[in-house]
Amino acid sequence: MSAITSEIKRVTTHSIQAMKNKGEKIAMLTAYDFSMARILDEAGVDILLVGDSASNVMAGHETTLPITLDQMIYHAQSVVRAVQRAMVVVDLPFGSYQANSEIALSSAIRIMKESGAHAVKLEGGSEVEDSIKRILMAGIPVMGHLGLTPQSIYKFGTYTVRAKEEIEADKLCEDALLLQNLGCFAMVLEKIPAKLTEKVSKSLEIPTIGIGAGMHADGQVLVTHDMLGITKDFKPRFLRRYLELFDSIGEATRSYISDVKQRQFPNEKEQY
Ligand code: KIV
Repeated sequence: MSAITSEIKRVTTHSIQAMKNKGEKIAMLTAYDFSMARILDEAGVDILLVGDSASNVMAGHETTLPITLDQMIYHAQSVVRAVQRAMVVVDLPFGSYQANSEIALSSAIRIMKESGAHAVKLEGGSEVEDSIKRILMAGIPVMGHLGLTPQSIYKFGTYTVRAKEEIEADKLCEDALLLQNLGCFAMVLEKIPAKLTEKVSKSLEIPTIGIGAGMHADGQVLVTHDMLGITKDFKPRFLRRYLELFDSIGEATRSYISDVKQRQFPNEKEQY
């Protein structure tokens, strides 16, 4: 069914803005593959982020830095094929936009053209101003990302809460306004004090989407593998685990192994 004839109304940059305007919270989750994206989309999530956290939860790297543009496009293609309603936003991976605005634009165009996604996200404020401008000028919606920006982990040296000090908090406020003025349609605020999130969210017209940033953001995002308890030992204070799938899947797997070993699977009805 084409987007034009489909009865399901797609989430767009306009509907995201409308949600903020009427005080409706925005629900965003990450997705990296077809099967999971289909479940999350059918459940009604507003935005699916093909996050570079795929580098951690899908590929097992310690940081988000190693994932490549080609790999992000592969994940994005799988997600886009599954989705009927949610807006699909794709992270520009480390190294695909920092060098200059031309490289940034060509990376963003590759994502949009090759995956069919609806927007890109990139980390940083004034440092990446030219890249954001250039991508926006090509008509590609951009979601910003401030606070803890995991692609700069080796600069920060730690994943602890950002912008607790006044200087960093002031810079974050300036960057947030800059992103809005440039034309970003929304921004992620990661791991900053709740009071700062409140201040930024109230001062901006565009929506903020928080992770570890408290209750005052206009929306929330979690890494789906964390939210479902697929990741085993990652239990920061901000994370609410809605399932403990690591344990449930382990239990199911142990039952399967036992059934196979004891010749309980397959039975007569499960064969041809
Ligand atoms: O890559 C990611 O999953 C993200 C979210 C944590 C916002 O950027």
